[in-house]
Amino acid sequence: MPSAAVDIVRTVEDLRSEVGSWRAGGLTVGLIPTMGALHAGHLSLVRAALDRYDRVVATLFVNPRQFDRPEDLAKYPRTEDDDAAKLAEAKAHLLYAPNVGEIYPEGYSTNISVSGVSAGLCGGDRPGHFDGVATVCTKLFLQSGADGAFFGEKDFQQLRVVQRFVGDLNIPIVIHPCATVREKDGLALSSRNKNLTAEMRTRAPTIYNTLRGAAKKLLDGSTVDAVLAEGTEKIRSAGFEKVDYFELRDADNLQPLDCLQPNSRLFAAAWLGPVRLIDNIAVTNS
Ligand code: PAF
Repeated sequence: MPSAAVDIVRTVEDLRSEVGSWRAGGLTVGLIPTMGALHAGHLSLVRAALDRYDRVVATLFVNPRQFDRPEDLAKYPRTEDDDAAKLAEAKAHLLYAPNVGEIYPEGYSTNISVSGVSAGLCGGDRPGHFDGVATVCTKLFLQSGADGAFFGEKDFQQLRVVQRFVGDLNIPIVIHPCATVREKDGLALSSRNKNLTAEMRTRAPTIYNTLRGAAKKLLDGSTVDAVLAEGTEKIRSAGFEKVDYFELRDADNLQPLDCLQPNSRLFAAAWLGPVRLIDNIAVTNS
């Protein structure tokens, strides 16, 4: 039997009225911010939220401010009906799907900009991207008044940016990091994987395999410079047109590392045709 449809609200007023009635009944609220094109990774966030909170709200907003290239925004998949069906199936309680004017009304002039953790990696290659993410997430947190919000570690730098501004601005919300969900061959789930041709798809797991190989070499004592150069070359020779970065960073402050530390993390971003894939892993023995 198909699941009952998920309720959809499109305005802050309706969102607050729904959340307000839950709160009046003493219920807690978890938030899953998304840009839609939902996959098993998003649904794992819904499950994690259902485990911790009484009510779960997913948001669907393709945020124009976080796209540095108009063509990327134009081709971002928009699949609301399908997303709503998946959320109903996953037993989310509400979908907040505002239009652009609800988030950025006429005259909107405020920007949230996080320094430090947003420098380099995707922040270097996508100017303004993390200002866009921080601004929209601030709005979604304040509009919903949720108790907690869930973010996948695939976008690890995004997670650190969100944790930073939530702490800096004393926003009363708990940020829950969730492990990256992968295909059987290791490819991290991403809405962008839909844009890979069948031939590109066979090459895509190289990023994860290279990260794992590099982590092992670092733990075996190879130098950081040598491992990063070799990893970059390996991804290129697998047919990726461009490697934006292959780097070792401190997992907390995201500063670049030139030797292995206890809290090290490897990060990679590379292009297969028009598709930019990113991934990252902790460098540990476990
Ligand atoms: O990770 C995403 O899908 C987006 O960056 C987010 C957090 C929903 C903000 O638009």
